[in-house]
Amino acid sequence: MRHDDFDVDELLRYSQDEWLIERKGFSRNRMRMQVQESLFCVGNGYLNIRGSLEELPPGSMPGMYMNGIYDRSEADVEELVKCPVWTDVSFWIDGLKVSPCSCKVMRHTCTLDMRKGILHRYSRLKTPEGKILSITTARMVFMHSVHRGYMRVRVTAENFSGAVKVMSGLNGEMLNRGFFPGEHLKHLHLERIERGRDLMYLEMKTREQQIGISVAAAWRPVGDRKGVSGFAPRIYGEKFTSELTLQADQGRLYAFEKYAVVLTSREADPDRLFRESICELRAFLKKGATSEIGEHIRAWAGRWEQADIVIEGDPPARQALRYNIYQLLINAPPFTGSTGARFLSSEGYLGHIFWDTEIFIFPFYLYNFPKVARNMLMYRYVTLPGALKNAERAGYSGAKYGWESAVTGEDVTPRFASKLERTIRLIYTGREEDHIVSDVIYALERYFRVTGDEHFLFDQGLEMIFQTARFWVSRVDAGEDGYDIRVVIGPDEFHEHVTNNAYTNFLVRWHLNLAAVLYRYFAHRNLPGFERICREISLQPDEVSSWKDISRGLKFKVDEATGLIEQFDGYFMLRELTVTKHDRHGSPLLPPGVTYRTVDRTQLIKQADVLMIFILFPHLFSDDVKLSNYEYYERRTMHKSSLSHCSHAMVGLSVGKRQHAYNYFMKTARFDLENLHGNTHLGIHAAAVGGTWQTVVTGFGGLTLKSDRIELRPWLPKRWTQLSFRVVWRGRIIELAITHKHTDIMVRSDVDGMVACSFWGSCFRFPVNQVYRFSSSPVTCMLKGECDGEVENSTDSASD
Ligand code: BGC
Repeated sequence: MRHDDFDVDELLRYSQDEWLIERKGFSRNRMRMQVQESLFCVGNGYLNIRGSLEELPPGSMPGMYMNGIYDRSEADVEELVKCPVWTDVSFWIDGLKVSPCSCKVMRHTCTLDMRKGILHRYSRLKTPEGKILSITTARMVFMHSVHRGYMRVRVTAENFSGAVKVMSGLNGEMLNRGFFPGEHLKHLHLERIERGRDLMYLEMKTREQQIGISVAAAWRPVGDRKGVSGFAPRIYGEKFTSELTLQADQGRLYAFEKYAVVLTSREADPDRLFRESICELRAFLKKGATSEIGEHIRAWAGRWEQADIVIEGDPPARQALRYNIYQLLINAPPFTGSTGARFLSSEGYLGHIFWDTEIFIFPFYLYNFPKVARNMLMYRYVTLPGALKNAERAGYSGAKYGWESAVTGEDVTPRFASKLERTIRLIYTGREEDHIVSDVIYALERYFRVTGDEHFLFDQGLEMIFQTARFWVSRVDAGEDGYDIRVVIGPDEFHEHVTNNAYTNFLVRWHLNLAAVLYRYFAHRNLPGFERICREISLQPDEVSSWKDISRGLKFKVDEATGLIEQFDGYFMLRELTVTKHDRHGSPLLPPGVTYRTVDRTQLIKQADVLMIFILFPHLFSDDVKLSNYEYYERRTMHKSSLSHCSHAMVGLSVGKRQHAYNYFMKTARFDLENLHGNTHLGIHAAAVGGTWQTVVTGFGGLTLKSDRIELRPWLPKRWTQLSFRVVWRGRIIELAITHKHTDIMVRSDVDGMVACSFWGSCFRFPVNQVYRFSSSPVTCMLKGECDGEVENSTDSASD
């Protein structure tokens, strides 16, 4: 072996147990296999590769998904394309493909090393003739160099000497799932296949947009080629396989490696895709695996240094939380682009982008990697023309972000779905679930608050805010006693075509007010750039007056006696039912006599709806109002969406329902690891992943970043002895360590200065780069290790 090889082995060494997710044993059950494939994706935000076994046992659902690559062809709407994979490798003995399906499984373990972003597999398999082969693989796609990937394969004939055929290839035989079971859709056609002694190349194009996707790979034995012979490249349709024969000596370890490069015609000249891919591959080979893997591991270490959260005292919570952060890291778009409701892990929801992104996922990036948050907002900016078209098509003005969005921003919500109870239903969300329009603006405003990025606000944000405000003016109906939004769907999708969904109305009031305030602010400053924006979108001052007017007059009411907010007009008149029975996983069951076809006649709701208002605007409601609504709606919620549990955890924490909150948190955190909704094979539930992070940081950690101060209201579950994490705020880094007794905070900054921080409502100001300690009763703030560091103390104004 070369010296290099030892280095690679060293680099591939497993991290400590707390960083590993391990699954032992093999199940032939398709569903279980596919769930594991979703869970064990490796990725870098540019692409994700599912964790399928290299030899693709029957029932596996391999695939690579790439950010922004959608295609329609014969599908109802554009969908995320399943792209070719480069990870195929198989071993054959006496004409038999060695796999856990064809052999006796003596041992089989898959291990995801979250710290390094590497997926490992170990199998010890016995053929029907009694020959034992052990196979080890490790694969990764590089975090620092998103087009490149690497795989190392080791094999040992344990109890025999003889021929083992080794096949490795590129697999373009990828079909998306169709609407009906067993139906498949083809989105790619073969453009070019090339082979060399050690190199392979496959280029495919999406059928509609003609986006070229190239996969180039080098496959070779590691070290000397002793025992390896008969290289034979073979092309089977859209698959390329390179076959060689290994004359294996009993007990000897043979290693192979695969270098891979993925490019698309979006980054490379379409006519030079082949050349560029091969050049990139050669550059990668020249650089060598050791140095590339080393950089990859350093890139991961950097990501974790920022994003890791340590929960002491609760290993299951800590591990599940890390898994969710791992998912967020492998799905962070490295350039303008967003991420769908199932990330890049599978085809659930057709890879479309929903409000899940802005409300549930975005905060993680905003608090850790503001550039990624900006990439996601830029996606909404570049798709603004699509949003303008959506509004026009529906007969409105301005811009209407599509409920489901893909390449252009034009709404891609399918017309039909096979919904709960497997009935096929018309889908109205595309037409009616309009809160998405303001959800996007909400994320934009939070981005500005936390980062202070005026360039974005001015160059992109204002146009987005004004064009979407315009949409609402045309969308609301003026009545005698105010404005209504009719024929609408709120977050609770059990009730369609309703009037005045409280969540939507409250958000729209806020949105229109924001638009008016910003307009006035910039208009008074007479900025030439501002005039240009107004001219370009022909914005008139009287439009701005109507924003203010509608913001005040759009109906929204908190009942003074009960503190309740009616989810929509007439909701309280519906049949009053609450959840009384749960299944063995603790998920609510519909009461006898109610089905998903008739549930809309009852008060049962699919997911948090009114409660979402308190997550977005925690300061604008009293604790009593929050509590009344929590108690009322929680009992009526079926949690049929993965967005629901984390929402209840967050609101539960704010109203003192702490045990509830912990249980909801754990459900969210283990949502996919335990396949709670039975559909993780269709992908990771991205909103639950983002919601897990939010529950810890903003819920248990009680942290909110404002434009001028940090707010803290931490509370830890009994078994947690410490919660520590860091976030980024206006170019500074905030480090927090929270225990039951106190909270230590340090704001790291290159520039000296003071920061304002409120702790359970009391405000303090202290200098950067020193650790301060807050204690709760009575509330104090001191320089850590001293008793008199308290500076300026006042009471928090409940502003938002
Ligand atoms: C939920 C929506 C969510 C969508 C995608 C639906 O089941 O009701 O709120 O946006 O799934 O996750």
